[in-house]
Amino acid sequence: MKRYQPILTKYLDEPGSATIDFYLVHEGYRAARKAILEMDAGEIIEEVKASGLQGRGGAGFPAGVKWDFIPKNSKKPTYLINNADESEPGTFKDRLLMNHNPHQMLEGMIIASKAIGCHLAFIYIRGEFVKEARLLETAIAECRANNILGKGIFGSDYNLEIVVHRGAGAYICGEETGLIESLEGKRGWPRIKPPFPAIEGYLKSPTVVNNVETLCNLPHILNEGAAWFRKIGASKESPGPKLYCLSGGVQKPGVYEAPLGTLLETLIYDFAGGIADGRELKAVIPGGSSAPLLKADEIEGLKMDFPSVKAAGSMLGSAGIIVLDDTVDMVQACYNLARFYAHESCGQCTPCREGTTWLTKILARFTAGQGRLEDLDLILEVTDNIGGLIDFSQGSFGKTICPFGEAVAWPVRAFVEKFRAEFEAYLPREALA
Ligand SMILES: Cc1cc2nc3c(=O)[nH]c(=O)nc-3n(C[C@H](O)[C@H](O)[C@H](O)COP(=O)(O)O)c2cc1C
Ligand code: SF4
Repeated sequence: MKRYQPILTKYLDEPGSATIDFYLVHEGYRAARKAILEMDAGEIIEEVKASGLQGRGGAGFPAGVKWDFIPKNSKKPTYLINNADESEPGTFKDRLLMNHNPHQMLEGMIIASKAIGCHLAFIYIRGEFVKEARLLETAIAECRANNILGKGIFGSDYNLEIVVHRGAGAYICGEETGLIESLEGKRGWPRIKPPFPAIEGYLKSPTVVNNVETLCNLPHILNEGAAWFRKIGASKESPGPKLYCLSGGVQKPGVYEAPLGTLLETLIYDFAGGIADGRELKAVIPGGSSAPLLKADEIEGLKMDFPSVKAAGSMLGSAGIIVLDDTVDMVQACYNLARFYAHESCGQCTPCREGTTWLTKILARFTAGQGRLEDLDLILEVTDNIGGLIDFSQGSFGKTICPFGEAVAWPVRAFVEKFRAEFEAYLPREALA
């Protein structure tokens, strides 16, 4: 079988890969030039739809379909926002893409902007990414100097500006409507949907929010064609290159590029060198901390694409793969997770605000050896009240304004259901009497 050649991270280790000179020498901005000079918006949307590109920010929504929701001939301006907030624990791929090849992402933004008729686009980058924000400012300035951004780009009559906006470091500002509120200068409180951002987003105008990695795929789709893209990976339904972030108890943590549908075992044992220090695999969180964990015996033959991970009872999410070895205390890990979510809840919805605090308090009691047997069922009841019953075939029951509710309810529930004995072992003797 032919060995997979990285696409998104091809130039990762080359000196100068972040500069426009390097990018132009390596066929950079060929696809953007084509999009601006030779294609109309509808053609770009159709090509991206045909490619099957799914958003890489977590939900896996088809990019071309999302763009098509933007009203045609709207009198309001249309905006593109590049979601570079990357705050899901276990996820660190977008940072890498921005660090080593910012022009690939900017090229993707030019293509997406043309597709939706946007003339002012934003990069919403998390506050802690200081170096990356500066790098992007430099890259944008290079583009302006080369007539790739600004007025009449590539000699056309198309104008496009890109503005870098630094967030203040809140997890919830990665959620697209919380992000939009924050970009408008307000507190990052998610909005009730509908209306969806495509109809009413930034400044109540049609807006597309796309993830960094999603946008980085676009130049390759226009250069090589939708049919080429569809062939990458194990399934035509969920195709393309993917960056997987491996962390936790592996020998070689890091970001690895492989096709969607690569076996989770291949990623853990081949790419990341297996479990560190000769330990055993206990469980894996496959898609960032919001994804329910899978036990070691549940990952056999698991393909890492959107439908396969969903069918296994979890989600591919941001592909932040956190490996838990046999030394991990599941009660402490669950408590750690619950504390994070209680801290990051924006507080708008009662089930999320109160529920995350309750979970944290109950788990604190457990870790202090003061748990009660009935607390285990209480945890499950609280998670039901926050995020609805977990039935992936039916989706969420939507008890909160944004999916943050499910993002805490599902993983906490999975910890308790799958490792109940470990929780019981924390109970004081009298609680079991
Ligand atoms: C609590 C929460 C946090 C999120 N954080 C991020 C993030 O840091 N980066 C991101 O791209 N998407 C994040 N998302 C998903 C975005 O809301 C949105 O779906 C995504 O940016 C759309 O881009 P895509 O279609 O290209 O995937 C988050 C969602 C939720 C509910
Ligand atoms: S679910 Fe939580 S984070 Fe989302 S809007 Fe409600 S309170 Fe805020």
